[in-house]
Amino acid sequence: MSTVQIEKKERYSILTIDRPQALNALNATVLSELKHAVQAVAGQPDQRAIIVTGAGAKAFVAGADIAAMQEMSSGDAHQFAQLGHACMNAIAHSRLISVAAVNGFALGGGMELALACDMRFGADSARVGLPEVTLGLIPGFGGTQRLARLVGAGLAMEIILSGEMILAPRAAEIGLLNRIYPAAQLLEETEKFVQTMLSGKSFVAQASARRVIAEGLDQSLARGLETEIEFFAELFKGEHPRLGMSAFLSKQKPDF
Ligand code: CAA
Repeated sequence: MSTVQIEKKERYSILTIDRPQALNALNATVLSELKHAVQAVAGQPDQRAIIVTGAGAKAFVAGADIAAMQEMSSGDAHQFAQLGHACMNAIAHSRLISVAAVNGFALGGGMELALACDMRFGADSARVGLPEVTLGLIPGFGGTQRLARLVGAGLAMEIILSGEMILAPRAAEIGLLNRIYPAAQLLEETEKFVQTMLSGKSFVAQASARRVIAEGLDQSLARGLETEIEFFAELFKGEHPRLGMSAFLSKQKPDF
């Protein structure tokens, strides 16, 4: 039985980490099945986005699997972290827009999974954090880098060095969660957002915007602004700007 369920909808899929007995903790099997699930959805041309969530009412993902890590040698840990990174990068570098629906605890590797997604929507009951230091560890699936880029170095230091759990309202206040909803409505509201995001918008422009934002994070401001000009101009080689702008000027809806 797979640890990741794929529910295919029109233009997007919901990927559910399904290991509720261990609060959906990420062991090597889950990481590799999640990576393959993302690649399988990305291989379907009609699919444009994924929603990543956790099975059960309690947890999104409570972290990397502590029982699995307990006996690891340094070499094993290196391999495990590489597998974790490969899974997170499969999401972050995928052509699919990704939204994490954080339905409960998102701790350690769970929060790192949410950070690898383009956006994070949370239940009002969600609790997030990077408690690795309480285990004698540091975040190993991208958290040190992605958190600092998202919320800044000062808050990343506070969150990682304290290992504290953060409640949903505070997580939203500091930009760690984009939106919060009552727990029972989280998935429905996330789906509504994704449906609206995918309707009447140019997927070519969305892909371009995703790439320029991501590439810019690795560049100086001056270089990032140049990259924006290049991507902006590149779009005009395709059909979508003409389709979108002529539809606007003739007061119609664009058919991308
Ligand atoms: N790994 C393995 N098993 C886990 C787990 C994890 N990260 N988190 C929870 N579980 C298991 C528990 O061991 C327990 O199993 P049993 O029923 O067999 O005892 C089951 O899930 C339910 O958990 P709890 O009984 O602990 O539930 P709770 O409601 O009392 O507490 C919790 C919930 C606060 C989330 C608590 O489970 C917890 O603190 N979990 C660990 C969180 C954590 O430290 N995550 C970071 C992991 S390290 C990491 O992720 C490294 C990295 O970056 C690569």
